[in-house]
Amino acid sequence: MLLSRRHFILRAGVAAAGAGSLSSGFSAQTGGASKTGDKPLLASTWPFGKPANEKALEVLSGGGSLLDAVEQGIRVVESDVANQSVGLSGIPDAAGIVQLDSCIMSGPGHRAGSVASIEGIPHPISAARRVMEQTPHVMLVGDGARQFAIEQGLESVPVESAQKHAAWWAERARERSKAVKPNPPKDIRENHDTIALLALDRDGNLAGGCSTSGWGGKIPGRVGDSPIIGSGLYVDNEIGAAGATGLGENVMRYCGSFLVVEYMRQGLHPEEACVETIRRIARLDPKGFDLSINFVAIDKQGRFGAAGTGQGFQFSITTPARSEVLQSPGLTKADVGPVGGNRK
Ligand code: GLY
Repeated sequence: MLLSRRHFILRAGVAAAGAGSLSSGFSAQTGGASKTGDKPLLASTWPFGKPANEKALEVLSGGGSLLDAVEQGIRVVESDVANQSVGLSGIPDAAGIVQLDSCIMSGPGHRAGSVASIEGIPHPISAARRVMEQTPHVMLVGDGARQFAIEQGLESVPVESAQKHAAWWAERARERSKAVKPNPPKDIRENHDTIALLALDRDGNLAGGCSTSGWGGKIPGRVGDSPIIGSGLYVDNEIGAAGATGLGENVMRYCGSFLVVEYMRQGLHPEEACVETIRRIARLDPKGFDLSINFVAIDKQGRFGAAGTGQGFQFSITTPARSEVLQSPGLTKADVGPVGGNRK
């Protein structure tokens, strides 16, 4: 049975613990209180999303489709050789190989495509789009994804993963004491930024994409939230779209982007939806507030917002009238309330 918005808020505990701080600390600061916003609207994670947004707007302005805009925008970040967390310039896995994750989703038709642990393909977002448009599948991984991308005519570079991965595992077998810790050190977390780009066109249709090289130094084969539909990205053409960045392990156990969209479905502003998703995860998670997760969201009306567990999450917004990097509200433990409910 569908819940009314009021019923949902009461059940979620937002009325008591959340709505107060939402209206004081998170009063749609970044998205504005208006019921509608400018269209087209592009929203993306981090300052490196701004040139991606601007490319996407250029594509839309030139008559390109929403998916063209998302793909071309994300390719800008994938092409940036200075970027150490997206594209082939990303930090490699423990064996020294860069494995990339990406997905794309179209609101119209509710279609999605995804690639994970793909090697030697400079534009995994284009491979993800081909999976969506050229196959009956949603997700391809590893060498199958690479061979598919090559067969589709996408640019590729040679890889040498088999030998390097075998050598790394052999080394680990020799040195069992070098166990991989489940909690990454702080410096690894900070090398961990994903481009998620959300797009709304003048007709109110939505799309989004996501691309990353994932956790630097990860165990070979590790896949994060970014290529997982509902975790790193979710688009619902009736409601809105959301994307995630940060430590994927802490997003994918909660279907984080899906949850943001579901909160918007219940009537929350995109910023409130991001905040409430972080609250919900922090309340449940054994790690409590120590999560390193961030979300950005837009709704069908053209409103936008973002939130993160740190003070540093910036996101980029572009419309025909403005293009800028904004600071999201950084949540504190006090904003979230009691956390770590499953800490046993
Ligand atoms: N959010 C990117 C990753 O964890 O791989």
